[in-house]
Amino acid sequence: MSMSTDKKQFFNSKIGLVAATLGSAVGLGTIWRFPAEAQAGGGGAFLLIYILCVLVLGIPVMLGEFAIGRAGRSDAVGSFRRLSPGRPWWMFGGLAVVASYLIMAFYMVVAGWTLEYLWQSISGGLFEGLGQSANDVGVMDNQFAQRMSQYVEQPWAPLIATWAVIAINIIILLGGVQKGIERMSNIAMPLLFVLLLGFVCVSLSLPGAGQGVDFFLNPDFTKVTPGVFIDALGQALFSLSLAMGILITYASYYPPTTNLVKTSVVVVAMTIVIAVMMGLLIFPAVTSFGLTDHGLSGTTLVFVTLPEVFMNLPVPQLWAILFFGLLFLAAMTSTVSIAEVSIAFVRDRFKVRRPTAVLTVLLPLVVLSAVCSLSFSTLSEIKIGGRIIFDFLDSATNNYMLPAVAMGTCLYLGWGAPHNLLKDQLTNDGTLSSWAVRPVRFALRYIAPAAILAIFVWNML
Ligand code: PHE
Repeated sequence: MSMSTDKKQFFNSKIGLVAATLGSAVGLGTIWRFPAEAQAGGGGAFLLIYILCVLVLGIPVMLGEFAIGRAGRSDAVGSFRRLSPGRPWWMFGGLAVVASYLIMAFYMVVAGWTLEYLWQSISGGLFEGLGQSANDVGVMDNQFAQRMSQYVEQPWAPLIATWAVIAINIIILLGGVQKGIERMSNIAMPLLFVLLLGFVCVSLSLPGAGQGVDFFLNPDFTKVTPGVFIDALGQALFSLSLAMGILITYASYYPPTTNLVKTSVVVVAMTIVIAVMMGLLIFPAVTSFGLTDHGLSGTTLVFVTLPEVFMNLPVPQLWAILFFGLLFLAAMTSTVSIAEVSIAFVRDRFKVRRPTAVLTVLLPLVVLSAVCSLSFSTLSEIKIGGRIIFDFLDSATNNYMLPAVAMGTCLYLGWGAPHNLLKDQLTNDGTLSSWAVRPVRFALRYIAPAAILAIFVWNML
């Protein structure tokens, strides 16, 4: 077999590696958390702050992870070890592997919900049996809300969807870096973009769309509190898939000729564009049908409010299929990326073949993700720190583990790593222009750690 343990895999093409990296970034966090956070955090004001956070924190940390992965040519732990043998920096890589595994456990559940809604749209079940007064806006909203809570609060259906998502991940990941991850991303990302573009056009052509755009993006600086800054920082980390070991792992598959600076700019710009497009899909549609006084959190928008919007359009089923298809694609390109972190770790550390690593990583999720899924139903009584298991994992990883890994990455590249590591990687050993090296090093040394410290302090308060 070609998958011998010592043969390093690479992405096959520039487009493929950008598609895969972008696919990781554009996940459910980017797609449904961003619009809701932006709307609540001052619209255009939040967008500006988010872009600022991306510039001072997002891009530098992304480039840092790229540098570690491509120079280390190993998984998140092995790369640190190779670059700084005998030093304890690898522990941050270890924390990234643990955090990413926990995130994966509950993310598979949410990805399962999107699959279930896709299936319900295809089978028509989503719109079946709605009450007579289905055209009364509030009533129907209630019905979709009930449907959603009934769905997640029953044990079996979400469990089966979660297992299906795990199975699909196994199939893709067995294909390897080029034939699995890259090939899927090459299909999924353009498709996602075209679908999204189509939706945005439809949404913007609805009566009263301008009001929705206003509602989403009109800058309202009075809403900008310190908490909004912290949200934007957290969103900059999460939406770019930072601090999870993902970019270290993917960059270890980048060929030596990849221009890291350009790649990060393209990935970041596209992520922002897609996040904003998602807002332009949601808010004009929502305001056009007068639904703004309903829950505007990410999951409610997606699973409750949007189905109601589709109900008000001709051929609701078609819109639902296309939309949940889009969400599902976004979820899949992210789940494979986060799974690959542990797969690469197991492969490199224990020198096993890829199929063994894939199964070692994904099969335990059959139980672990099931526990997360059941924490909404059968296991809802089990609380850790006052939260159900799902919410506990979500908050522990996002509020503490990811900032810790991000901080470690900054400190490593700013102070601990071999001095020429960043420069050699950003310039491809001196063959590319070096303008980015100094600002990136400065950000990694001072600005990004200060921002991450602020997240920590805020979360402790
Ligand atoms: N950027 C991704 C998102 O927005 C983060 C992520 C990647 C989460 C992979 C889980 C798995 O969803």
